[in-house]
Amino acid sequence: MASSQEKAVAVILMGGPTKGTRFRPLSLNVPKPLVPLAGQPMINHPISACKRIPNLARIYLIGFYEEREFALYVSSISNELRVPVRYLREDKPLGSAGGIYKFRDHIMEENPCHIFLLNCDVCCSFPLSEMLDAHRRHGGMGTILVIKVSAETANQFGELVADPVTNEVLHYTERPETFVNDLINCGVYVFTPQIFTIIQEVVLQGNNTVNLRRETSLEAFQSVAKVLPPEFVRLDQDILTPLAGKKKLYTYETVDFWEQIKTPGMSLRCSELYLSQFRRTAPHLLATGDGTRSPSITGDVFIHPSAKVHVTAKIGPNVSVSANARIGAGVRLISCIILDDVDIKENAVVINCIVGWKSSIGRWARVQGEGDYNAKLGITILGEAVAVEDEVVVINSIILPNKTLSISVQEEIIL
Ligand code: GTP
Repeated sequence: MASSQEKAVAVILMGGPTKGTRFRPLSLNVPKPLVPLAGQPMINHPISACKRIPNLARIYLIGFYEEREFALYVSSISNELRVPVRYLREDKPLGSAGGIYKFRDHIMEENPCHIFLLNCDVCCSFPLSEMLDAHRRHGGMGTILVIKVSAETANQFGELVADPVTNEVLHYTERPETFVNDLINCGVYVFTPQIFTIIQEVVLQGNNTVNLRRETSLEAFQSVAKVLPPEFVRLDQDILTPLAGKKKLYTYETVDFWEQIKTPGMSLRCSELYLSQFRRTAPHLLATGDGTRSPSITGDVFIHPSAKVHVTAKIGPNVSVSANARIGAGVRLISCIILDDVDIKENAVVINCIVGWKSSIGRWARVQGEGDYNAKLGITILGEAVAVEDEVVVINSIILPNKTLSISVQEEIIL
């Protein structure tokens, strides 16, 4: 039985400006981890989940963004959640295991028995306490959160085979070319401090440079630039694959929701998942109203207290309206993320859309996507400070920041 004094820390991997390029145009103005989903920065969701870990001493955010991009966020979230959060900056990308290894002394400062590691761009219910219980039962070095997905999509992720009785990971392959199993790695882990010894062995042996199959976009960039440093270690290929079948790694399977947030379209889907989670975990965050004294609300909707929404507007389902947005009379919003300082004028319609900071949408305008989260133009996205003039129709399009649309567009990317 584990001691109630065993400390835990959490590490959230955030990547940096050369990662998350598929997230443009939203990541042109704000680092991807700070893009709001369900009215909160993406990274708030895993951080709030970490807060529920028993005996959590500290949360570390590791990335290669500039320090100043996270300074304000880190101090405000530390105060809000009353848990110390610290940003540790790699001066160059060191990979998903190299980054935590570089900061091993910081991470071990509190002498934790358990180290949670989370990718910042996964959306799930983060069952961290349940994972910890399972991890203690397994007695291994690490426990990986896993989920079953369709056989057709499994090859986009790390596929694994686990013993059905002991849950030991018997085989692990990152994005295999041929189907292995429909059980995939969710990018959420709990490790013992032994993880650092194992990464160290890989660094010392230089094993990380072999077997560069199916490179990620960042690694492809680095190979071309021939700058892969010796301390660059990937958690999946360099650590998890060789550890499979050695009674070190185990799984904890979630049957709840799970998605990766790689594109703006997926952020709309994930906003929907988090809003529906609020119904169970934080119903006070969801708006209500029937069109008499407050706007008419359908389904799960978040409206920031500083936003001004006209009583005749109809909002929802799956809508989040951020700070200082203004939503005019007769406006209809369905399935959209409206970011800070957006102005939507009377009788405009916005459906399946992300409207960037400080954008404006004119009277009787229609801004719409067909709603396929996975298609390139399935969601209409307006970058920061885009102006859509009165009566203009924008369908299935991506508009980069600072553009003014005075004529209607369909299936276009406006640079
Ligand atoms: P892509 O398809 O390239 O986006 O990768 P992935 O999400 O399948 O896996 P990857 O291992 O590249 O990233 C897992 C998590 O680690 C993500 O949250 C990344 O932002 C983060 N990450 C990846 N490389 C680094 C790195 O060098 N340093 C840091 N701090 N984080 C990283």
